[in-house]
Formats: sequence, C-alpha cells, structure tokens
Amino acid sequence: MSRPDSLPHLDILSHDVYERGLPQAAYAEFRRDAPVAWINETEANGHEGVGFWSLTSHEHIVAVHKDWRTFSSEVGGTEIEELQHDPEALAARRTMLETDPPRHTKLRQLVNPTFSKLAVETYAAHATELMDEVLGDALVASGDAGSFDGVHAVARELPIRMLTGLLGVPDDDAPQLFHWADQIIYNADPDYSPAVSDRTDTDPYRLLPFRSPVTLKVFEYVQRLSAARRGVESGDVLSVLTNALVDGEPLTEREQGTFFLLLLIAGNETTRHALAQGLLVLAQHPDALDQLRADPTLLDTATEEVLRWTCPQLHFRRTATVDTELGGAQIAAGDKVVTWYTAANFDPAVFADPHRFDIARTPNRHVTFGGGGPHLCIGQWMARLEVRTFLTALAESVDCVELVGEPKRVRSNFINGLKELPIRLVPPRHT
Ligand code: HEM
Repeated sequence: MSRPDSLPHLDILSHDVYERGLPQAAYAEFRRDAPVAWINETEANGHEGVGFWSLTSHEHIVAVHKDWRTFSSEVGGTEIEELQHDPEALAARRTMLETDPPRHTKLRQLVNPTFSKLAVETYAAHATELMDEVLGDALVASGDAGSFDGVHAVARELPIRMLTGLLGVPDDDAPQLFHWADQIIYNADPDYSPAVSDRTDTDPYRLLPFRSPVTLKVFEYVQRLSAARRGVESGDVLSVLTNALVDGEPLTEREQGTFFLLLLIAGNETTRHALAQGLLVLAQHPDALDQLRADPTLLDTATEEVLRWTCPQLHFRRTATVDTELGGAQIAAGDKVVTWYTAANFDPAVFADPHRFDIARTPNRHVTFGGGGPHLCIGQWMARLEVRTFLTALAESVDCVELVGEPKRVRSNFINGLKELPIRLVPPRHT
C-alpha cells in the first residue's frame, strides 16, 4: 500500500498547537496538497499510535460520515486512541457514539424524543428566560468595572441551566456535576485535569472514558440517582436510561453511566464554546449585532454562521472496515480516519470567502454537527436554540461586546474552546 508522506508543517495532534489557536494556514496547505494525508503519529506527536488518515476537505468528511459501513464508529471508537487493539477498553467505554447501526439506532431512539426539533421548540420560552437571567446575573456580578469572564458568566451558564431539567439532575448538584465534566473532557489541560493525558501515565484508567478517573464519580452519581427512578417514567434522561429495554434487555450500570456521561459532556462542553467564541467573534465584528438589529430576519443565518465559525468539536475518528480509496489515497481495512471539522468549515470549495464572518451567509453547509450519517449530532436543535436565544438577547440588550483582555484557549486537540474571555457588554446607546 502506498501512502503519501505526512506534511511536516504542522503537528496536527499537538494539544499545544490548539492552545495557541486554530492552525488554519496549515489546514489550507493540507486541503490543497494532501486533503487525505497519512500522519505518522509517533513522529508527529510522540503518541503511541500507528498513524491515521487526516481529512481536511469538506467533501471527504461528508463522504466518510455518510458511509458508516466502510467507516465504522464501532470498530475502533471515535477517539484517536488505539482502541481497536484493546477490545476490553472499547467495550467498557462504548456509548451510542461508538456503536454502528442497527444497535445504534435503537439506543438513539431512547433519547430522540427529548432532543427532536419539535421537542426542542417547546423549550424556546424557557431558554429566553434563562438567557435573560444569565445576562442579568453577569452584569450584576461585573459591578462598576463592568467587565467579566464571558466563558464563566455567560457561555458556561446557559447550557448547564438548559440541561439539568432534561437530564433529571437536581439544580443543587449541577455545579459538582459540571465540574466533573470539565475535568473529564479537558483531560489534556492541567488547569482542569487531575491526570493530564499526554503528561501522566493514564494506563491505569484505560477502561474509563477519556482515561479519566473522574468518570467513576459520575458513574456512582448516576447509580445513586437511578435507584430512585426504577419503574418511574418521569420522562427525564435518567429515568429513561434506568428503565430502558434494548432488544428486551435493560442497559447495564456501565451503559447507563457512559450514556449519561455522553449527554452531560456533549450537551454542555460544546455549546459553551459556540457561545464563548460567539462572544469573541461579535467583539471582533462589532457591525454584526447592528446588522442583526437592522434586519432580524437574519437570525437563522447568523446562528448558522456562528456555528460554522466557532465549530467547537475539532475532530472525530472512524476506522475503515475494508480496503478502500478516498481522494486518491489507498485506505486499508483497520486504518484510522480523522475528520477535522474546523478545517472543512473553511473549505473554499464549499464556502465563498470562507474567512469572512458573514451573518447573511447562505447556503451554509457547515459540518459543525458532523458530516451527516447516523451520528449527526442529536443535540443540534438544542444547540441552535441556545445560539439563537443568545444572539437575540445580545441584539436586544447590548450595543456591542468589547474585548478587555486576552482570551485564553483550552489545551486540547479535541475541543476547540476558550477557558477565559475578558469582556464588557456595552449598554445600548439610548439608555
Ligand atoms: C454547538 C454544539 C454542539 C456541537 C459542535 C456538537 C458536535 C457534535 C458532532 C460533530 C457530533 C457527530 C459525532 C460523529 O459523527 O461521530 C455530535 C454527536 C452527538 N452530539 Fe453533539 N454537538 C453539540 C451540541 C450537542 C448537544 C446540546 C447535545 C445534547 C444535549 C449533543 C449530544 C450529542 C450526542 C448524544 C451525539 C452522538 C449522536 C450519535 O451517536 O448518534 N450535542 N455532536
């Protein structure tokens, strides 16, 4: 099998690279010269990995996501780690995200009613109330200085307040639970993680999602709460998972734990960064809020543009099930394939003038929620609702967003996010 050399210009897996910023110039080189590029992990990152195919063009990412038979989520999971060679860890960590149809379809159906477009539309008034509350609290807390950390005060708050009721978590438990979620997902960032993934020996935790010991605390929590929900159909996610039957069998305790964890993390850690980087891009493009105020019919296209631009999930992974060809590259059965959404969203073959933030952009076929196929984000309608509500509230209640310090990025090659964003919300000129 012939494989092109990896391009040397970027250590595409380095957590440090993403802590500094998105490597858009290098992505553009990859897209132009080797949109399906073989990356040798040992050389590129010092990781113990056999290497992977790195996809940076929109066309290939969509093709791979749609063809789940050739590019499986189940065979090796969706993280870059070599789980295809560790079936025990793969099984212990498996969620619906790492399951192919037909079982995937059955698992997804359990929570589909909670996250369908129709169901989410019924939360709209609640989202508006929560957003007003969040902005109000942030402004009060900012005091006379008027400045605050947009990540903690705004972006982190709305998704958490939206999720607790749906998950079936008491409001009082939310701070602890979401603190655990941060520790788990930012496993490469020493500001969060007790076991930094590329600096400590995480082998003892290989059976735990994200190799994080903190997941055990979430699993214990789920078991404690689900005991009271046995036989009780209250409609929240915890009671659904407790009482679910799939192929006539209940979910195991571990399956309940990993399913809950998936929703906890996917539902809050991604939308947070769409809102945080939404604040940043609005600060960098002060005309955008004026444009939206002048033409509120732009709300939907503005929402999609914020999602394209902010793209909180950097990548996911698939594993080839057969020898196949993609973009001229010969992919062998068992090879890992990594889809860089943050690159595809700026692919000039699909987006005219891709580095222009344009709230009127249409069409906008971003892959922020994945490239299609069975795993297309189940929370997309909820994320859209939150971004829409956020933009509406800002357009109504502030003149502009002002950056008053340096944003700080999360150290992660998996989540494209901010951990600090010093901002001020400038009140409307007429008050
Ligand atoms: C801006 C916010 C969000 C982004 C960027 C995002 C991104 C993604 C992406 C890229 C996938 C596809 C994974 C794949 O194909 O392998 C996905 C799947 C998923 N997302 Fe989201 N997501 C967001 C919000 C949410 C929310 C609010 C929830 C739920 C509360 C959620 C729950 C999930 C779940 C459960 C899956 C797995 C679906 C499946 O395997 O069928 N996401 N998300």
